Amino acid sequence: MSPIPKTAPFAEEEINLLNRVVGPATAVQRAWLAGFLAGLDASQTGGVVLPVAPARPAEPITIVYASESGNCEKLAGDLAKAARKNGLKPTLIDMADLDLAQLDAAKRLVFIAATWGEGEPPARAVRAYGELMGEGAPRLDGVEFGVLALGDTAYAEFCAIGRRIDERLAALGGKRVVERADCDLDFAAPAAAWIGDALKVLTPPDADRGRVIEVDFGKPAAAPNTDIVEAEISEHVNLNSSRSNKETIHLALAFDGAAPAYEPGDSLDLYAENDPAYVDELLKFAGLAGDDKLRAELIKTRDVTTLSLKTVETYVAQTGHQYVKALLADGQAKDWIAGRQLIDLIANFQIALTADHLRALTRPLAPRAYSIASSRREVGDEAHLLISAVRYETHGRARKGVASNYVAERLKRGGRVRVKLKPNKHFGLPAADKDIIMVGPGTGVAPFRAFVQERRATAAKGRSWLFFGDRQFTHDFLYQLDWQEALKDGALTRMDVAFSRDTPEKIYVQHKIWEKRRDLIEWLDGGANFYVCGDAKNMAKDVRAALVRAYAEVKALSPEAAEAAVASLERDKRYLQDTY
Ligand SMILES: Cc1cc2nc3c(=O)[nH]c(=O)nc-3n(C[C@H](O)[C@H](O)[C@H](O)COP(=O)(O)OP(=O)(O)OC[C@H]3O[C@@H](n4cnc5c(N)ncnc54)[C@H](O)[C@@H]3O)c2cc1C
Ligand SMILES: Cc1cc2nc3c(=O)[nH]c(=O)nc-3n(C[C@H](O)[C@H](O)[C@H](O)COP(=O)(O)O)c2cc1C
Repeated sequence: MSPIPKTAPFAEEEINLLNRVVGPATAVQRAWLAGFLAGLDASQTGGVVLPVAPARPAEPITIVYASESGNCEKLAGDLAKAARKNGLKPTLIDMADLDLAQLDAAKRLVFIAATWGEGEPPARAVRAYGELMGEGAPRLDGVEFGVLALGDTAYAEFCAIGRRIDERLAALGGKRVVERADCDLDFAAPAAAWIGDALKVLTPPDADRGRVIEVDFGKPAAAPNTDIVEAEISEHVNLNSSRSNKETIHLALAFDGAAPAYEPGDSLDLYAENDPAYVDELLKFAGLAGDDKLRAELIKTRDVTTLSLKTVETYVAQTGHQYVKALLADGQAKDWIAGRQLIDLIANFQIALTADHLRALTRPLAPRAYSIASSRREVGDEAHLLISAVRYETHGRARKGVASNYVAERLKRGGRVRVKLKPNKHFGLPAADKDIIMVGPGTGVAPFRAFVQERRATAAKGRSWLFFGDRQFTHDFLYQLDWQEALKDGALTRMDVAFSRDTPEKIYVQHKIWEKRRDLIEWLDGGANFYVCGDAKNMAKDVRAALVRAYAEVKALSPEAAEAAVASLERDKRYLQDTY
């Protein structure tokens, strides 16, 4: 029997750890530990041994997070830590692992949820989210709850998932004791404030009330460095040929000291600057050309491209512009902003603006994430990125993605850039003897270069199979030489490619998956992990659908059974996605 009871005022994982130590300890070891702890208390209270308060079971709080790139997961951990300090006993659940029956027993419930795609749940949370919204969801009568939503005002469906979960918990009978907060990309301060407020309400009156609730955002001692660091650009190479209509930059970053301790599957957040030409045009339309201080501030620190409903509302509040006011009042603003940027609003509805008006129309410039395309075991204190320049035209204006064009057009070899490690523990390599199947068209191939380098450096025994795709073999075969080498030295066992514009009918990676379905299912039956990285809008869905069809055909399963086979891979964390 475990000596530390589940009611002890520790988190579940801490109770497990204590049991691992105390459980097998000898009588002598236990006596030593008891004496040691008593002595420790005495030394901290000036030699006076304080009377021990009668043990009271800590009140539970269930914290569920729906996260893809880790922000909600981090906040949920912060909340759990603060709850524990407040005398509560938190249970932390990744929505990917949520069994709705766990909510039955909940007394206090917090959801911290991100929105992805176009108003969709994070990929890992899709199953549990569907169940929560479905008929089988349990009643939550009287359960005290609160929801913290993370999102991005640039998306039409801002914080949609948090909003829907909030509505659903109330519809299931839950008692909303703290109003939902919808946070934009600069969520740190509002999220910390919400956590503080939520804990004040969710902490029962007989637990240490009145204590100042500290939200400790420090990182655990053993965590890798996730501070912003500078690196020098040691390589800047366009991997597309000059005849391609794409530009994909291989960027090698050399750190001044040790590289942040990244693992294959992690990303770097890159801090870009805006295009000075765009900012000059914006200032001209705003009647603020010549304000050099504002220009520098906008280039370096403000998001000057995003146009959201919130921006339009701010514009009306500041200027009282009649046409824009009418757009909002008629409900046309949502359609009008689609495909447009801040510059369109200011150019189309010109009115004299002050520098402060313009500041208020922008939010802080957020970094952009890029998958790391290298393994430290192969490249040392460097990190490689693969960045595709985003360029398109809408409403008669040529548009350029902020960060990708900063990299493609303005960063040069020898220049410097600021980055921050964004670990992703949900997209790592399995044990070295396990097979891996990697599906990564376009820049989706980046983390798989890290996987293959790592497998080579560790002489991993497991086989690896890569599906890659892009437009044309001759012009767009990203890292072609690396793959050829890896196939030769065995770091890569197999590779299948799909070049969509080389043949009259378009061939994509999902077609290759279908073509190779027998071998693929054999690998999966043998325990292989299946990884997908890259485009979330179409590719990831098409790949999943192709795999479901492959199961149905190869194993003669009904569509429902084939779907269940893929769902079970997801549940077992053998179907892993990092899509954007
Ligand atoms: C975890 C993660 C890993 C990533 N890894 C990589 C990677 O390895 N390589 C990589 O290149 N990218 C990667 N990305 C994407 C990257 O973070 C950026 O989103 C991308 O580079 C665009 O950023 P930007 O600043 O250049 O464009 P932004 O200024 O952010 O503009 C992009 C926006 O422009 C609009 N847009 C784009 N194309 C069109 C179009 N055709 N029509 C209309 N509107 C359009 C969309 O609203 C889009 O959101 C990753 C993203 C995530 C979340
Ligand atoms: C590809 C992509 C799609 C997104 N779609 C939405 C969206 O539809 N609505 C929204 O409010 N936020 C959207 N976001 C913003 C995320 O919700 C936001 O970055 C959040 O902080 C991510 O939290 P997480 O790290 O816990 O996943 C999107 C972000 C990305 C990268």
